[in-house]
Amino acid sequence: MVKAWFMDNETTDQRLEHHRNPPEFIEIDELFKKTGVEYFLIDADNYQNDKVLVDLRQKRNYTYEDEITCSEKCLPDYANKLKSFFTEHLHTDEEIRLVLDGSGYFDVRDDKENWIRIAVSKGDLIIIPAGIYHRFTLDANNYVKAKRYFVGEPVWLPYNRPADDMDCRKEYLKHQSEAFAHLNKV
Ligand SMILES: [Fe+2]
Repeated sequence: MVKAWFMDNETTDQRLEHHRNPPEFIEIDELFKKTGVEYFLIDADNYQNDKVLVDLRQKRNYTYEDEITCSEKCLPDYANKLKSFFTEHLHTDEEIRLVLDGSGYFDVRDDKENWIRIAVSKGDLIIIPAGIYHRFTLDANNYVKAKRYFVGEPVWLPYNRPADDMDCRKEYLKHQSEAFAHLNKV
């Protein structure tokens, strides 16, 4: 089950938990209201038949899917890839990931520039909205296998911060000011 918390400001190894002292966790509902990040629990061993995922794909028209494995052995150009994943960026489309195995951290910025760390593991499906500043890192286990979904032809292009003039960023900030209240969860 997913957990999320506010990060400290230490510049030590990005794969550590980086809890504040004392730790400050945030509930998933609160995370959605603050950032628009959505979370669903999926049966990773039988995801093709998982009703939540089937409904989600249908309603949001996720027509594309593939699988990615991040580990030193499986990912070409591993060190540079990890560096780019961990560089603060945004996308013009949602980033949808379902963890099939292993684990990792998605970090997202809240409205006060805090980093919130979301620890994902097997069965966690996370939707990072278009226009939010975020980054990804493996944790100390150095391994994650995940499904990626997309509407139409996939565009994985990251726009590194600053990207404040982009339409998707402006749109995101508007949604955030409305606490994402108009967005319907499946
Ligand atoms: Fe991203």
